[in-house]
Amino acid sequence: MKFFVDTAEVADIRALTELGVVDGVTTNPSLIAKSGRKIAEVIAEICAITPGHVSAEVTATDYEGMLAEGKFLRNIAPNVAVKVPLTEAGLRTCKTLSSEGTPVNVTLCFSAAQALMAAKAGATYISPFVGRLDDLAQDGMILIEEIVTIFANYPAIKTEVLVASIRHPLHLVQAAKIGADVATLPASVIRQLIKHPLTDRGLEAFLADWQKTGQSIL
Ligand code: E4P
Repeated sequence: MKFFVDTAEVADIRALTELGVVDGVTTNPSLIAKSGRKIAEVIAEICAITPGHVSAEVTATDYEGMLAEGKFLRNIAPNVAVKVPLTEAGLRTCKTLSSEGTPVNVTLCFSAAQALMAAKAGATYISPFVGRLDDLAQDGMILIEEIVTIFANYPAIKTEVLVASIRHPLHLVQAAKIGADVATLPASVIRQLIKHPLTDRGLEAFLADWQKTGQSIL
């Protein structure tokens, strides 16, 4: 399973990439706004840190506008994946950019039918949003199960299921058990995945015992 980090904060991306746990990055207009930086500048910096795909999202809503923005974004770096919303114009943009060899991430997916449409349009990634469904008392993981099952029925589908809107470690574990291809996680959730209180307690006890020996390894 690939792990993407869902942020436009360069310091977090750099630190987590150094741990070897990050395969790519996703951003969206809200995350770029939060960074307070120009999109072209921040995407270029992120692309230089990670060799994996970095999703950069269009903000136009019509086909011509999305296509122009998509072409601008893909020219920032070879590892940019253009992110488009799951609308008619978004699917048409996906088809055009994909046929030109540009990776496309189709975002804001909330149904299995939408995921199939994105796959038909040649998406590299489909991004179903689990957290936002959970917020409406609909189990987001059921959607992941449906999409993974449907895609497995049709080996010709190469679109990867990228689980988005992850809010906590359990989302990640459930998505991995289902067999989703990618999860995009806030940096805070990646850090939560590393931590365990028994690891901390165990390390504390080992170090206390070691100190009693008066030895040092080097
Ligand atoms: C990533 O591609 C999505 O834009 C992101 O995961 C959405 O997360 P949110 O629902 O927590 O805003």
